[in-house]
Amino acid sequence: MATFTIFGTGNMANAIGGLVADGGASVQYISEEQSGSAAIEGDIVVLAVPYPAVDAIIGAYGDALAGKTVVDITNPLNFETFDELVVPAGSSAAQEIAAKLPNSHVLKAFNTTFAATLASKTVGDLTTTVQIAGDNAESKAALAAAVEAGGVKAIDAGALKRAHELEAFGFLQLTLAVAEKVQWTGGFAVIA
Ligand SMILES: NC(=O)c1ccc[n+]([C@@H]2O[C@H](COP(=O)([O-])OP(=O)(O)OC[C@H]3O[C@@H](n4cnc5c(N)ncnc54)[C@H](OP(=O)(O)O)[C@@H]3O)[C@@H](O)[C@H]2O)c1
Repeated sequence: MATFTIFGTGNMANAIGGLVADGGASVQYISEEQSGSAAIEGDIVVLAVPYPAVDAIIGAYGDALAGKTVVDITNPLNFETFDELVVPAGSSAAQEIAAKLPNSHVLKAFNTTFAATLASKTVGDLTTTVQIAGDNAESKAALAAAVEAGGVKAIDAGALKRAHELEAFGFLQLTLAVAEKVQWTGGFAVIA
């Protein structure tokens, strides 16, 4: 059975936790208040927090995250302008996080699926697909198996450097939703 620890108790934390729990995984949530004091129980750790909050978690749990699969789900936007990403050009939040956690298996996932589409498991008439990028095949397979057990599809989007494209994709989808050109219950779907 997959074991998850999810940092955050917001929209994405609950959507991802609910999804993998449907597939039989155990899920521990660590709230902002508990962050720093609660021990990590899961093997797959999901950072379901805003990108600026990630550094505090790495600072508090860097050693405890060694050997774990760490899933970055952030869309690292400048939320003041909604017009740019805050990570260095050509890079990604996931690669920045991986550089700070050299002993963890960092994955990028869930940033291209709105929370509502993880909860409903559909985008329009299609089953939701979680795109996963990362450099560790075993970690990617374990996350893919957990989300598929929960009732959505997973696709291996390639190496962690593909997080750059996934973040561009997530950025575009967000701007479309903010402009009310797509609904928060919709967005891009994948036909494999
Ligand atoms: N919403 C979506 O559809 C969607 C889709 C793709 C990706 N994302 C990404 O997913 C992430 C979470 O988004 P969300 O919509 O779930 O936001 P949200 O509903 O505002 O939830 C954010 C959560 O992070 C918690 N938090 C902040 N700092 C923390 C810390 N140091 N330790 C533990 N928890 C902390 C917050 O706790 P408090 O409430 O106590 O401050 C809150 O529970 C963001 O990076 C976002 O870009 C969101």
